[in-house]
Amino acid sequence: VPTPPVTLVIFGATGDLTRRLLVPAIINLTRSRLVGEDLHILGIGIEPGDDEFLRGRLDQFLSHLSGEEPPVKDETWESLRRRISYTSGDFTKDDIFVEIGKRLGPHANAAFYLAVPPSFFGTIVEKLAAHGLTNESDGVFRRVAIEKPFGTDLASAQALNAQILAQVGEGQVYRLDHFLGKETVQNLMTARFANMMIESLWNSRYIDHVQITAAEIVDVGSRGKFYDATGALRDMVPNHLFQLLAMIAMEPPNSFDAEAIRNEKSKVLKALRVYTPDEAKTHGVRGAYAAGPLNGAQLPAYRDTKDVSPDSRTETFVALKLYADTWRWAGVPFYLRTGKALTARDTEIVITFQPVPFAQFRETDVKRRLPPNRLVIQVQPDEGMSMEISIKSPGLSVDTVPVSLDFRYSDKFDIAKTTGYESLLYDLFIGDQTLFQRADGIEAGWAAVQPFLDIWAKDESVPDAYAPGSMGPASADELIQRDRRQWHELGVILHGNDK
Ligand code: BG6
Repeated sequence: VPTPPVTLVIFGATGDLTRRLLVPAIINLTRSRLVGEDLHILGIGIEPGDDEFLRGRLDQFLSHLSGEEPPVKDETWESLRRRISYTSGDFTKDDIFVEIGKRLGPHANAAFYLAVPPSFFGTIVEKLAAHGLTNESDGVFRRVAIEKPFGTDLASAQALNAQILAQVGEGQVYRLDHFLGKETVQNLMTARFANMMIESLWNSRYIDHVQITAAEIVDVGSRGKFYDATGALRDMVPNHLFQLLAMIAMEPPNSFDAEAIRNEKSKVLKALRVYTPDEAKTHGVRGAYAAGPLNGAQLPAYRDTKDVSPDSRTETFVALKLYADTWRWAGVPFYLRTGKALTARDTEIVITFQPVPFAQFRETDVKRRLPPNRLVIQVQPDEGMSMEISIKSPGLSVDTVPVSLDFRYSDKFDIAKTTGYESLLYDLFIGDQTLFQRADGIEAGWAAVQPFLDIWAKDESVPDAYAPGSMGPASADELIQRDRRQWHELGVILHGNDK
């Protein structure tokens, strides 16, 4: 379905997100004919300039992206370029909103995209509403898209939701989590609900535990100011990792309708156990990278990074053990971990099944050696799924070996390079909120991490040190080993079952 005519009004149009993700995504959507000539972009920024100013900025960036000198003439970009305009002003003053009103007129569909620091979210929505810019009428839609971070804890997320929902309806609010734009994340629901052999085993009777890992090689680098006020927990867990968790743990929705899906996701997020302070102490660990070699260079310790306080207690790694208290998941731990400056860039979900109840093989110790079945879902970078099973190795004795049944997206499909924002922008334009977070889901996520935020805010000790290029501090291993389990070794899908 092509999108309806719409003006994308981007607050923060000269910023990194606009040029790196939003505009390239729109170019891709135009190429695939999903958006047409009736899409317009109105950029808003603080820097003074006219339409040509923003177009020129984007020219530079896109030619830099293509790496060609002189840049190849790109018809899609040429056509979109003409439909880009710009106006500058202070987001907290009225003038700019009057100007936007004039440019849009009363009858244009508009999506206001807040690609700005979070401190502006509430104010911009209030100003838009005060100037009548969010009024929908006679088939005219007005939507607000909000980037993360949405709040910094439970109280601030509740306050921001209240501030926004006092002005616009939930149906007009599109809270982004870019993980939901990833192909493999969207596939999680299909994998579960289109496959009887997967879904029928999907519960505490057959599943021993779940691991969700989002490892990154990149260090904090130039993001010190943002990161030191944020930390790994806030940056990744209540949003990205919980979206993965919700997709894994939700009940089947009764339709693929946005509300049906978001109801189920919210339900399971609300079932996440909210720990007491004492429980939080034993169910989470935090780490910060020390100085050391990474990728052939010497990485300074996190605390010595530019714009990071030398006595910072902010974590660059976190590992948690959580429970979803539902009939389906009773007693099944969800182990989550994420961090910077780790071994590999790798986001994966590992479902470990229960051991067989009885192993009737001849070797006396075979049961102990029988590895449990595992389903590994690789979200990125090498998207795919792998199912580890045991077979008999050839020969006279009954020796079992683990082998893996693998599927890689790249083997089957020519996946065009995307920014991950294509589906999100497309859905914003057609009005499908499935891949956006609803207020109650966001608040449920914050509620589950709040006990960790609270105890760490009070804890005067520093996060556990880990070496760059490792998989986090020793305490993360202890967290899972205490339960006689191991973290899945990253990237060890037995691709191809090499001899
Ligand atoms: C962002 C975080 O939301 O997600 C970053 O702020 C993180 O710190 C990024 O690096 C990870 O996203 P991706 O798509 O690169 O896995």
